[in-house]
Amino acid sequence: MPSRANITYFGAGPALLPTSVLENASQALLNYNDTGLGIAEHSHRSQYAADIINQAKADLATYLSIPDDYEVIFMQGGGSGEFSATMYNLVGAWVTRKKTEILKQLGAQSEEEANQEELVSALKKAVDSELKLDYLVTGGWSLKAYQEAGRLLGPEFTNLATDSRTVNQGKFGKIPSESTWKLSKNAAMVYYCDNETVDGVEYPKFPDVLGPDSNGMRPIVVADMSSNILSRRIPVENFSLIFFGAQKNLGSTGVTVVIIKKDLLPPVCSQPSPALMRKLGLPIPPVIFSYETIAKNNSLYNTLSIFDVYIAGQVLKKLLATFPDKVDGQEAVANQKAKIIYEALEAYPSIYRIVPDKSARSRMNICFRVTAGGDTDSTEAKFLKDATAHGLTGLKGHRSVGGIRASNYNSIPLAGAQQLADFIINFAQT
Ligand SMILES: Cc1ncc(COP(=O)(O)O)c(C=O)c1O
Repeated sequence: MPSRANITYFGAGPALLPTSVLENASQALLNYNDTGLGIAEHSHRSQYAADIINQAKADLATYLSIPDDYEVIFMQGGGSGEFSATMYNLVGAWVTRKKTEILKQLGAQSEEEANQEELVSALKKAVDSELKLDYLVTGGWSLKAYQEAGRLLGPEFTNLATDSRTVNQGKFGKIPSESTWKLSKNAAMVYYCDNETVDGVEYPKFPDVLGPDSNGMRPIVVADMSSNILSRRIPVENFSLIFFGAQKNLGSTGVTVVIIKKDLLPPVCSQPSPALMRKLGLPIPPVIFSYETIAKNNSLYNTLSIFDVYIAGQVLKKLLATFPDKVDGQEAVANQKAKIIYEALEAYPSIYRIVPDKSARSRMNICFRVTAGGDTDSTEAKFLKDATAHGLTGLKGHRSVGGIRASNYNSIPLAGAQQLADFIINFAQT
């Protein structure tokens, strides 16, 4: 039986957690802060819970340099829940903005004061002719988000601004040039996935075309950073919303974090009333997916898993203690780890084929095929078996694409990445 010390686990999520965090957590599960009660048993309304939430928020903000005009909230429902939540809330915010514009045109001070028929008819016209959600589809997860928005809202409101399969022989693996993206005017949001976990595709940087225009106006950009958060510096001010599940770089499965610009929340922007949305034929979110409800309640609208927030908080504390220069320090290590693994693969082009194009290779999910000998399936089976024998586990690619995937998240130490690189070289040489 292997022990933790013998294993480097490259699974895509849930992912490896630092052993010291798990040791603290096991103690906290039994007896938190000498209270005689475990952290998973304390009330989510207790002061202990509030302190854990507030500290994790503060540490995340410090680590990522999140500006003050952003709110951090903890939600449930995973990344998949956010595919829906982003759509509902950003459509609502679009309607609120449109409503303000129309009220001005109608010369009314408030919704109540306006002629209801006129207001609804003008809004309905705007919805039918202008409401668009732009999706940049560069892999399986952004595709799922796009499809979910079409399912819940109607495909007539979603715009496939780019689909990377069109430039890569029907497969994901590249990011089409920004100049080809078909972005809508004043989209309710432009949505993208910064790192595609299944396909191993990562945006090398924030897309220029989504930055502020010459008047300083920015599009409303929403990003899924589930699998590369905390691994590189993010220009947070370019985003209206960033979300990520905890189970890769932050902690254990069960909480989803949303970093949301306060101008999407009351008092600046309140969601339209359910009655108005119904008149417009637009959907409203279940209350647990309402950002304003969750933010108003400091993430405690309903029972949140405080244990999962505690784990996330411990991981953040460890990162802050390890890297005095915060995310920049971790970014340097993440880049180094990815470099040594890719270099090992590149050294043997007749044995390995790296799946994504070099321009968009993920530092977090390294996807490759072992093509030596022509019988890829059996060579890969041998690769996985031999790797496991060397304590290198979790390397099987996602079931939808096959192959090998090394998820090189923050908790993989540099020595673990080096061990994998050495194994890749040795396997190629035998
Ligand atoms: C980039 C990305 N987005 C979304 C998801 C979906 O997350 P969940 O399984 O928490 O719904 C995943 C899952 O691995 C992911 O990697």
